[in-house]
Amino acid sequence: MGVDVLLGLQWGDEGKGKIVDVLTPQYNIIARFQGGPNAGHTLEFEGIKHVLHTIPSGIFRDNVINVIGNGVVIDPIILQHEIEKLEEMNVDVVSKLLISKKAHLILPTHKLLDKASEISKGKEKIGSTLKGIGPTYMDKTGRNGLRVGDLNDSSFDVKYNRLRDKHLALLKGFEFEKDLSEMETTFMESIQFLKRFKHIDSEHYINNAMKENKKILAEGAQGTLLDIDFGTYPFVTSSNTITAGTCTGLGVAPGKIAKVIGIFKAYCTRVGSGPFPSEEKNETGEKIRKIGNEFGATTGRERRCGWIDLPALKYAIMINGVTELAMMKSDVLDHFDEIKVCTHYIQNGNKIDYFPFELDDTTKPVYHSVKGWNEDLPSIRSEEDFPNALKEYISYLEKELETPITIVSVGPKRSETIIR
Ligand code: GDP
Ligand code: IMO
Ligand code: MG
Repeated sequence: MGVDVLLGLQWGDEGKGKIVDVLTPQYNIIARFQGGPNAGHTLEFEGIKHVLHTIPSGIFRDNVINVIGNGVVIDPIILQHEIEKLEEMNVDVVSKLLISKKAHLILPTHKLLDKASEISKGKEKIGSTLKGIGPTYMDKTGRNGLRVGDLNDSSFDVKYNRLRDKHLALLKGFEFEKDLSEMETTFMESIQFLKRFKHIDSEHYINNAMKENKKILAEGAQGTLLDIDFGTYPFVTSSNTITAGTCTGLGVAPGKIAKVIGIFKAYCTRVGSGPFPSEEKNETGEKIRKIGNEFGATTGRERRCGWIDLPALKYAIMINGVTELAMMKSDVLDHFDEIKVCTHYIQNGNKIDYFPFELDDTTKPVYHSVKGWNEDLPSIRSEEDFPNALKEYISYLEKELETPITIVSVGPKRSETIIR
């Protein structure tokens, strides 16, 4: 049996956490394959709203194992907080969570370097979450990183000090407050805390599970347009957020990828800097932000809002080999007379229908308008009850995207999900 993948097709925050939680009862294992605590995945059920950063979104369900794969970068301090919050809610994390020995560790100085990098970029800053993601992946590819499997090594302290000192040399000249000693004390305490958990060779674990016909879902973080190779570089994150990231981030051979569920909002958002052709920097954008509560789950920052972008979605579907789609936050568009869909871009005076290398602030959207439904969706539990205008929006998107929309989300709660 192969591995199913669920990942974001836009600039993140599509609602991955919610749908992974909804689908988890169909799986034995949920595995994160990339990113780290820059992610904020929100789950809402039984009156509880919970945000996960490093832990896979299957953690609340019984009889499901959650794996943090080798491609993930872990901040032990944040992971400890996450685990403690779950344990307070009586979630048995020790028995349900496995951590790859090959996952890299985010050091306190990686977070300082992230800040220094943003300061040095000035107006061109990425808008990083400042969780140390970029510097940690840089040390991974630079072959300097520390991994979970190093925690029990007698030379851990020596390796840690060597890397920390290298970072401090790089940080010389940056005048911002760095209370490193306190951060380091907490870091070392968290390292001890993490020793309670099972550290595994996750590639063997996942491949053995496949042989045993276990059902596995890989949970993406961020979104395709933030991918290090295919996103809006340099305004991207530092990992491969795409289906291929499952192969490298979990040790799954390409031929073992089964379903790829691509998830997108019925409109579009972005947090941080970078091009966003269909952004509405006006009352429409504000209306979407307000109704959709579009504020970052990790940083609390305002998310930029705009209309759905078909050239970008088609690109993401192509790169990921998406086999089915989940449309999220449809209810946010409940009270719009007109809904716009970006079908093309104007680039250097030319009308184009693809996602170009040159995408920047001069790229303008070309819109097709569709009728809004002006009806409240959250109470709807069956597709038959969808307003006609929503049915038309769905079939228009399916035709354009040449991929079936199998899930329609009409609210943040588990129950507010229609599986078609
Ligand atoms: P993720 O990073 O992809 O998991 O998404 P986030 O959790 O960062 O952001 C999605 C936000 O939308 C969260 O606050 C969810 O509770 C909320 N959400 C998810 N699906 C829906 C939906 O269908 N309608 C509404 N109104 N909110 C939703
Ligand atoms: P989830 O998994 C939305 C954005 C940041 C910034 C850029 C680089 O919740 O969808 P980084 O901290 O990775 O160096 O930041 O990427 N970003 C996200 N935006 N959702 C996320 O994760 C994000 N993770 C990073 O805002 O623009
Ligand atoms: Mg998020």
